[in-house]
Amino acid sequence: MSATVSIGALPLSEVLTAPEKGALTVIAFAGKDLALGAETTKILGDAVGLIGSSAEFAGFKGKIGSALEFLAPAGLAAQKLIVLGTTPDKDGEKLDYLRLGGVAAAKLGKSKLARVLFDFAAAPEDFVAAAGDFALGLRLRAYKFDQFKTKKAKKDEAEKDNDDPVEISLAGTDAGVIGQAIADTSGLADSVDLARRLVNLPPNLLYPESFAAEAKELEKLGVEVEILDVPAMEKLGMRALLGVGQGSARPSRVVIMRWNGGKEGEAPLAFIGKGVCFDSGGVSIKPGAGMEDMKGDMGGAAAVTGLLRALAIRKAKANVVGAIGLVENMPDGGAQRPSDIVTAMSGATIEIINTDAEGRLVLADVLWYVQDAYKPAFMIDLATLTGAILVSLGQEYAGLFSNNDDLSENLKKAGEASGEKVWRMPMGAPYEKMIESKFADIKNTGGRFAGSITAAHFLQHFVNDVPWAHLDIAGTAMGSPASDLNQSWGSGWGVRLLDRLVRDFYEE
Ligand code: BES
Ligand code: MN
Ligand code: ZN
Repeated sequence: MSATVSIGALPLSEVLTAPEKGALTVIAFAGKDLALGAETTKILGDAVGLIGSSAEFAGFKGKIGSALEFLAPAGLAAQKLIVLGTTPDKDGEKLDYLRLGGVAAAKLGKSKLARVLFDFAAAPEDFVAAAGDFALGLRLRAYKFDQFKTKKAKKDEAEKDNDDPVEISLAGTDAGVIGQAIADTSGLADSVDLARRLVNLPPNLLYPESFAAEAKELEKLGVEVEILDVPAMEKLGMRALLGVGQGSARPSRVVIMRWNGGKEGEAPLAFIGKGVCFDSGGVSIKPGAGMEDMKGDMGGAAAVTGLLRALAIRKAKANVVGAIGLVENMPDGGAQRPSDIVTAMSGATIEIINTDAEGRLVLADVLWYVQDAYKPAFMIDLATLTGAILVSLGQEYAGLFSNNDDLSENLKKAGEASGEKVWRMPMGAPYEKMIESKFADIKNTGGRFAGSITAAHFLQHFVNDVPWAHLDIAGTAMGSPASDLNQSWGSGWGVRLLDRLVRDFYEE
């Protein structure tokens, strides 16, 4: 076990009470011109003068991201005092408490016990939201995937701190309110961490059946979980999905997760995820360099699973269906070939040009199934679908493709609010031509140009007139540069965006 972070609330007066364990670190915030909160000034007493003079020597101006650190500050019962800047980078910009939480977690280093003076010279407008964001930022930054680092585990054991949680208390004048805000966001943090862990896990451990078992765990939270095995999918005619999995020794699965928190009979919101547990490319095999990254080709399915968990834990007032197509794309003797023609559940025939364009084949059948079985209000799919989206948008934005302006607009707003941003890409008839097949209804690749757009067009063949959006997350789900909020290879991208979308636009 690696260290975990637990966050609680504390009355301000108890910030400097004798720590029961380890060394106490206190975090305080300094704004513009090093202004401290009123309570902070009181609690720090003489140490305030120390901050002023040290700031001058260190050139500390209270900018967000910067910090001043003091060891054994005279007159304080804390072993360490960290003063964090809170002044936004640009004039007039609002303080981003989520980012501030991330910055705070980074400065904690090896501290095991920290108390944060949640007290600002300029009080946040919405104190509850600020405390919640801050706590979420702390948690998001603190996540680490180190379960296979045996040396670290041994060291932890020797130091007897293997399951010793890092304990952080946010101390404020209204500890009750802060406590509630922390409780409200901790479920979301856990759910992002679940998605991250699924993406980080290697494919010898996380394959369709074991992924399905992870999803099944959500039943404990009141989510209905149904697993379709290969015979069930054969019966439904999911030949597009099954064709992808047929070159693997691991049988495919589709998992349907349902959260019924809305009005009875109300059409559900549907989220669909690409869950290619490993994408070798199949017979159209990928080059060796970088192939290891294809363990993360289930980032869409991970986000959908994390989202359903987040919605269930906060008892979201909405009916939601999450459906994930779980396969492994491998090249054994039974594998499908370029030039094969498969019939999807919709009845459409698909010519396989490249077995490495497998995600769209998986989604084709899951989209069709969800639309048919659940008559959803909308469908949003998430998929690490194309390398081309990395060429277009890099790792900053996910590509958004949609047949509906309102849904797109809502996604864009939820993206700005959560920081998981989307950029709408064009679609249209000329692209459709690129996936016309000589022998079947459509083919699974559209040539060298506009790879992400032709992939979206392919998906659209399996969507009728229901509002639909496709998010190409190949650039955002994995391998993102380390940031204030994420140090993990698997980012868990999409859980916060979609939780926000549901919360802001689709709950009663
Ligand atoms: N899983 C890949 C896309 C991908 C690439 C995800 C890089 C994350 C990082 C997908 O299945 C794929 O192989 N796409 C091909 C499509 C091509 C064969 C038309 C691609 O992008 O090269
Ligand atoms: Mn592929
Ligand atoms: Zn893939």
